[in-house]
Amino acid sequence: MHQDVEQILYTEEDLRRRISELGAQIAADYAGRMPMLVSVLRGSYIFMADLTRAIDLDLTVDFMAVSSYGSGTVSSGQVEIKKDLSDSIEGRDLIIVEDILDSGNTLYYLMDVLRARKPASIRICTLMDKPERRAKPITADYVGFTIPDAFIVGYGLDYAEKYRNLPYVGVLKPSVYAK
Ligand code: PRP
Repeated sequence: MHQDVEQILYTEEDLRRRISELGAQIAADYAGRMPMLVSVLRGSYIFMADLTRAIDLDLTVDFMAVSSYGSGTVSSGQVEIKKDLSDSIEGRDLIIVEDILDSGNTLYYLMDVLRARKPASIRICTLMDKPERRAKPITADYVGFTIPDAFIVGYGLDYAEKYRNLPYVGVLKPSVYAK
């Protein structure tokens, strides 16, 4: 375990098992269709890679990067598109793939932007959900794990851009971000 991690919340095996269930559920729900999975970078890149491989269905992928203004551990309502999608989404069945749904500010903004581009449907798939932190009326259609309000890192999630490469999800030691 990394020295800055206090506790492992989900092991590689926990993640593999749950993502395989999510993939099977999505494949069943979208049978006969070809969804477009949109990964919201950067946090979701590892989840996206594993989730798409767990969906036994034809699908396409695209990527978007957004950042919220504001500092520290809380996102603000102000969101900026840093990298837009490569393809048109008109008439497509979109599944937005997120690593974590927290205040909901990011997705509240993004849903608005994407809806205006006339997809056939939009659903949200998040690996982790912190419902107690929600500030905007956003609900995910697929949730890997509902988690308490702890500072978590790993499996794509960072603190100050570090720890994304940890293969598990862990709770960061408070001494690290209190510095
Ligand atoms: C994280 C996460 C979501 C957002 C969720 O991204 O990937 O996009 O925060 O928070 P919210 O529900 O409060 O808006 P972050 O801004 O940390 O960027 P990153 O994906 O590049 O790490």
